[in-house]
Amino acid sequence: MRILESERILLKPIELEDLNFLLNLRWEQEVMNYLIHDPISYKNQLDWFNNIKKTDVALSVFLKEENELKIIGTIGLYEINARHQRAIWRIRLDPSQQGKGYATEAINLLLDYGFNTLNLNKIISDSFANNIAIVNLTLKLGFKQEGLLVNHYFHKGEFRDAIQFGLLRKDFNCTKK
Ligand SMILES: CC(C)(COP(=O)(O)OP(=O)(O)OC[C@H]1O[C@@H](n2cnc3c(N)ncnc32)[C@H](O)[C@@H]1OP(=O)(O)O)[C@@H](O)C(=O)NCCC(=O)NCCS
Repeated sequence: MRILESERILLKPIELEDLNFLLNLRWEQEVMNYLIHDPISYKNQLDWFNNIKKTDVALSVFLKEENELKIIGTIGLYEINARHQRAIWRIRLDPSQQGKGYATEAINLLLDYGFNTLNLNKIISDSFANNIAIVNLTLKLGFKQEGLLVNHYFHKGEFRDAIQFGLLRKDFNCTKK
């Protein structure tokens, strides 16, 4: 796939050399609190990398600095269903780079690619109901809440609720006009 970029951000397929950074990110306390998946080892991370499906859009997020690209996270479209023209998106950014609008910039690039290049009709996400940052971000992007998934995940010794959000291509194009 081609590289996606905005003024400050560049997105490109995850490469082997990105894995150490992405693994460390998974182990950051602030990030781990909201990850639906359990922490993993480097071997798990490598296995995941080697098994990324051809249809998945698994990208590293880079900050465009003066003379170099600095990796700050990952974003992607997964579980792409060609028949139903649907995918799920996920994002994870370095805590030291949060609150600067980078997620908004990265997801807009990804949504544009998903709807206008992959021709998806719908992009969904699910996250813990108490993940205020992602809930606010998703609503700000125009996603609609589709459901509260009660006791949907078992995480850190307790069942936790999740919220499913969805955005349709026609609504994304509307917000871009
Ligand atoms: C969710 C996440 C991607 C947001 O990244 P970010 O770059 O800080 O987001 P932005 O700066 O683009 O903020 C966009 C909007 O998100 C919301 N938001 C972001 N951080 C927030 C926070 N700490 N509290 C409340 N709302 C927040 C706000 O609505 C914000 O808009 P505003 O600045 O106009 O108020 C980031 O916090 C993250 O990686 N969290 C850990 C991983 C995670 O939870 N991933 C999702 C589950 S898989």
